[in-house]
Amino acid sequence: MGTSLACAHTRKLAPLAEQAQYLALPRVELTVFVVRALLWVGFIVFLANLTVPAPPPSTSATLRTTPPPVPRPDRRWAGTTLTYYGERPGFGMAFERALLRQFEQDTGIRVNYIPRPLSASECYASYQRVFQARSPDVDVMMVDVVWPGALAPHLVPLSLSTEGFLPQLVENSMVDGKLVAMPGYLGAGLLYYRTDLLQRYGYEGPPRSFDELEQMAKSIQAGEKPVNPRFVGFVWQGYTYEGLTCNALEWQVSQGGGQMLDQVDSPEALRAFSRAAGWIGTISPAGVTGYQEEDVRNVFEGGNAAFMRHWPYCYASGNAPGSPVKGRFEVAPLPGASVLGGWEWAVSAYSRHPQAAEQLVAYQTCLPVQRWRAVEGAFLPTRPELYKDPELLERMPFCAIMPEVFRQAITRPSTRCRDLYNEASSIYFQGVATVLQGGDPAASMGRVRRDLSELMQP
Ligand code: GLC
Repeated sequence: MGTSLACAHTRKLAPLAEQAQYLALPRVELTVFVVRALLWVGFIVFLANLTVPAPPPSTSATLRTTPPPVPRPDRRWAGTTLTYYGERPGFGMAFERALLRQFEQDTGIRVNYIPRPLSASECYASYQRVFQARSPDVDVMMVDVVWPGALAPHLVPLSLSTEGFLPQLVENSMVDGKLVAMPGYLGAGLLYYRTDLLQRYGYEGPPRSFDELEQMAKSIQAGEKPVNPRFVGFVWQGYTYEGLTCNALEWQVSQGGGQMLDQVDSPEALRAFSRAAGWIGTISPAGVTGYQEEDVRNVFEGGNAAFMRHWPYCYASGNAPGSPVKGRFEVAPLPGASVLGGWEWAVSAYSRHPQAAEQLVAYQTCLPVQRWRAVEGAFLPTRPELYKDPELLERMPFCAIMPEVFRQAITRPSTRCRDLYNEASSIYFQGVATVLQGGDPAASMGRVRRDLSELMQP
């Protein structure tokens, strides 16, 4: 690179030399000038190479294996075309494409795959528009674990077996005695940390409290920033959307601040939100209030953060071939509480092809697919038996801690709120966003408490 750059410069400088002659500059002086200029250019390029952070990770996955075949495929609906709102743009897309290819091949049903919006909140809003219009344009959709209660009137009751699924998840998907969605994968907030950096800065293990996290993030950031100006201590989902509800609830609960619906302005909750506001521009980037899952992942996987709060699939994406942080990070439970997340598959009540649609739901959530998705992508199963699977434990060793993380995880109040959950969550995340942007914590969260109690009034 250095040579070609030098050649390019020499070529450009040739006419300049002629001009210099014309201006009667002594040739020796000019040569010295050119040599110095080239040395400077070389030095700047060298410095730039030192400080430019690692390239961002590729957004999609490279799969090692093909998905399992459809168990007992039924070709009665061959030739039907389904429209399906599936995985959002990013890491999950490659999984989706491979699964759909297999499904189409085995059943003869064609699937028109539309990646759902990046933000869960926007996704919910787009489903509401489809449902309000009673539109048959969508047949199958992925629904967040917090939505079955709210979306139930627009979903087809399924006749699939839930044997072997986590009973709490099945209960969450049963509305008025009907199964309205099939739990496909499960998640919980986790703390990702760079093992190489912890070691370099003399830490024996991941932080166990927010105090420790702050202190470690600060000292690692201070050491790394001079060589990588983009480096930050801690990244998390700070955009004004459902992901912020998950993060904020974790801060609130783990610091003794009570629950989302009634104690949002307790002194402990206010302290927890103010503390997070204090991270912005110190251990977290100023732009963190614009970050959703894939932005956060890009920063950490690009080698530009010491700690990250994220869902389990980043264990697979971060260890994918070519990832700049491959083998240089680990996961631990978050300090304190972790919010439960995950996605389910459902059929729209306005679909013209409910039986073909149910076949796709059955395939997406069947045991072999859950296993494949977990082994390849750390999208964790909703069937407890799979957590003992030797191949899964070998590929994703952190799965050994997950049953305990799930057992202790906190749930968002979707069952209590039912169709009001999304509104309740919006009130909450908007209030927290105001605090993050520098608003008065007591005033903002006091308003949130009043709005929430008004919303939840019987
Ligand atoms: C993840 C979780 C989901 C949560 C969302 C928030 O996708 O699985 O439950 O609502 O993140 O961004």
